[in-house]
Amino acid sequence: MLKDKYAERIEKIFSKYQDKRSAVMPLLYLAQEEYGWLPEESFSEIGELCDIDPTQVKSIAGFYTMYSEKPKGKYWLQVCTDLPCALRGADQFHADLKEYLGVEEGGTTEDGLFTVEHVMCLAACDKAPMLQCNFHYMENLDMEQMKAFIEEKRAEAAKGDQ
Ligand code: FES
Repeated sequence: MLKDKYAERIEKIFSKYQDKRSAVMPLLYLAQEEYGWLPEESFSEIGELCDIDPTQVKSIAGFYTMYSEKPKGKYWLQVCTDLPCALRGADQFHADLKEYLGVEEGGTTEDGLFTVEHVMCLAACDKAPMLQCNFHYMENLDMEQMKAFIEEKRAEAAKGDQ
């Protein structure tokens, strides 16, 4: 339960807002950090914490692409394919990335490491192709860089398994 495990952090989050319902978004981030995604019970937990209905929490989560209601890979790769990025080759980059990882849009690799999906503008239009990996921006990318990144993460995961 979030409220037991993160009592201090939750208190700190609430202290930044005048009312509890305003803390929904940072609490969604906290839940996503804990579970890796937002399972149904996280909406009930947050609803209870904020004194609002879980369906309201779920509707907020559903509105934003930074929240996921499906399990994701360890590395959540969100590629911007909005128009300005598309003009700098983002569509091809997105397609090549999916092909290299062997996944469809929104899919996760069998080893559970990578999820790829496209998103709208991330406000780094002049640095396309770009993506955010677990909310960290990676910019001016090409597939050689991505292959190196992917293989590095695979190697780290393999070491961790030993
Ligand atoms: S259009 Fe891709 S970051 Fe703005």
